[in-house]
Order: sequence, then structure tokens, then C-alpha cells
Amino acid sequence: MPDLKTSYMGLPLSNPVIAGSSTQTITAERVKALEAAGVGAVVLKSVFEEQIRADVADMVDSLQEDQHAEAYEYLRADYPMQIGPEKYLDRIREIKAAVNIPVIASVNCIDADRWIIFAGKIEAAGADAIELNVYDVPQDGSVAAAEVEQRHLDLVAAVSEKLTIPVSVKIGPYYSSISNFVERLAALDINAIVMFNRFFQPDIDTDEIALKSGINFSRPDDIRLPVRWIAMLRNRVACDLSLTGGVHDAEGAIKGLLAGANTVQICSVLYKEGPARVGEIVKGIEAWMAKKQFDTINDFRGKLSEPEDGAKSGFARAQYVKAFVGLE
Ligand SMILES: Cc1cc2nc3c(=O)[nH]c(=O)nc-3n(C[C@H](O)[C@H](O)[C@H](O)COP(=O)(O)O)c2cc1C
Repeated sequence: MPDLKTSYMGLPLSNPVIAGSSTQTITAERVKALEAAGVGAVVLKSVFEEQIRADVADMVDSLQEDQHAEAYEYLRADYPMQIGPEKYLDRIREIKAAVNIPVIASVNCIDADRWIIFAGKIEAAGADAIELNVYDVPQDGSVAAAEVEQRHLDLVAAVSEKLTIPVSVKIGPYYSSISNFVERLAALDINAIVMFNRFFQPDIDTDEIALKSGINFSRPDDIRLPVRWIAMLRNRVACDLSLTGGVHDAEGAIKGLLAGANTVQICSVLYKEGPARVGEIVKGIEAWMAKKQFDTINDFRGKLSEPEDGAKSGFARAQYVKAFVGLE
């Protein structure tokens, strides 16, 4: 019987399939259902910097009404981040008490100063690890790419320095030199990089002639982007790598592991198929391992990653040229 046990950021996991951050992981009830379905760990829905600001604003407003002059001054004058959204911290405590799998909290952060205190509160609430989701949309044309990257690196360095629990960083694919950025990120004291976030893109309603927001779920083919980058970077960084984007079935999960991912995260497929799909994925990996005579995940993880000596593996340009030259 193949053994799917593995570890991620030093945390022991029964298998490498993680439920990624989304509203599927927002309540204790949902997380319990995912645990029962067989996930190895769960990443909670992100708390967003804007939520923290909103909570503080609400509190300041209520204090103003109540005429608590001293407290109001204290809040307004400094340390707004000392008051995080308590609800999120309660949720962590509640979920931790309800399940036995590792619980990874998630924060979407832009500004280092604002996050350090809140990240400490997440740790104190009992999260086993924290995933920093460094999503923002740099719109200011006067800010160069290098500056945006440095801001992200400074943020990660500042937050991870203050924490004792493992830290992962979830990035998007829109860096012009992904290898360089990932290598600099990995050189910080972090435990894993999660590749790649799938950002919401607003859509246009042509009847209403207005913007509309819609969830854009992934398709199985979307896995090719993270598979490629994980395969190319696996032997260039020491930290763990977790693949997110396009894992819908056991085949996708196996592709991610062959590329060199330590874990794979699933999200869109949970919306489409529900937690039952987790069991199918885990059983599918097990069946494939038995067929290929792999006893443990380590027996095949990274088998198709680009070798350390830099020899080209087919994930670089050659394959691209081949694909198009062969097309009639
Ligand atoms: C409805 C929805 C909500 C999401 N919310 C978050 C979030 O709060 N934080 C985060 O880091 N990623 C979030 N994601 C991104 C997913 O965690 C995942 O990285 C992405 O959807 C790609 O994986 P998939 O192809 O399995 O869906 C969300 C995705 C969806 C579809």
C-alpha cells in the first residue's frame, strides 16, 4: 500500500493535497467537511488589509459616538493595527479546536507596518503556519517593477522575522523575472512559496454597459503554468514549493508532484464538485503510485524537475519552438 504521508513547511501531513484559501475554508463546518474528505491541510480564507482598516474605522466611529475620548485618541493617533479583526482570530481558534489537520492562516498584505502586529495575533490564536498572500495591483506608472518587488520582499522579511510559526508566501505569475524574484524570496527566512495565485479579473456586462465581477474558476489546462515554473525552480531554491492553479483531479496533483511541488492546493474544483473530489484525488494518487510501484511520495517527487546542473529539461524555450514548428 503506497504511503502518501509527507511534510510541508515542517508540518506532518497525511497526504500532499491541501484545500487552498477561499470561502470553501471560511468556517469550522466547511473545514471539518474537508478534513473528513481527506485533505492533508487547509489554508483559511485570507483576511485582507482592507478588512483590518475597516474594523478599525468601525471601532473609531463607535468610540466617537460613545464619547470615549481617551480611547478614541489612542486609536486614532497610533497603532491601529493593534486591533485586528477579532472575528478572524476567533475563527482560527474555533477551527483549530474542531480539526486535527494543520491549519494555515492567510493574510493579504500590502503594507509591512500594518501587518506585523496582526500576524503575531494570528500566531497567538494557534494557527500552525501563515500564508502571506502578496496580492496587489500596482497601478502607479511612476513605480518601477524593481520597486514593487522590493516592497514585497521587505514586507515578507519584516513579517516573517517576527513569527516563530512557518511562513509561506503566495505569489502571482506577473513578475517579469519570476526566477530572480523567487530566488530572492527564498533567500529570506521563509518556509515555502505558493505558486501561483489566480487573481480576480473584473468583467464587462455588455447589456448593462457596466463592470461586473465574476468568479473566474480555473480549468485543468491552467496547471501548465505553475507546473512549468515549479519544475524550473525546484532545484534552485531550498524552501518547499506548493502548487496552486488548475489541480482538478489526481492527474493534476501527480503532475504537480512530478514537477517538484511538496504539496498541491485545490480550490476551483471544490466549488464545482464539492469536498467529495478530495477523496477521489487522494485515492487516484494512491492507485497511480501502486501502478508505478512508488512506495512513498519522495520516490517520485521532482522526477521531472529541471536538473540542478542547469541542463535543459524541456520546460524552457525548446519545447515552445518544437510545438509551433510542428503545427500545420
Ligand atoms: C472564490 C475564490 C476565492 C478565493 N479567495 C482567496 C483568498 O482569500 N486568498 C487567496 O490567497 N487565494 C484565494 N483564492 C485563490 C485560490 O486559493 C487558488 O490559489 C486559485 O483559485 C487557483 O487554484 P484553483 O485552480 O484550484 O482554483 C480564491 C479563489 C476563488 C475561486
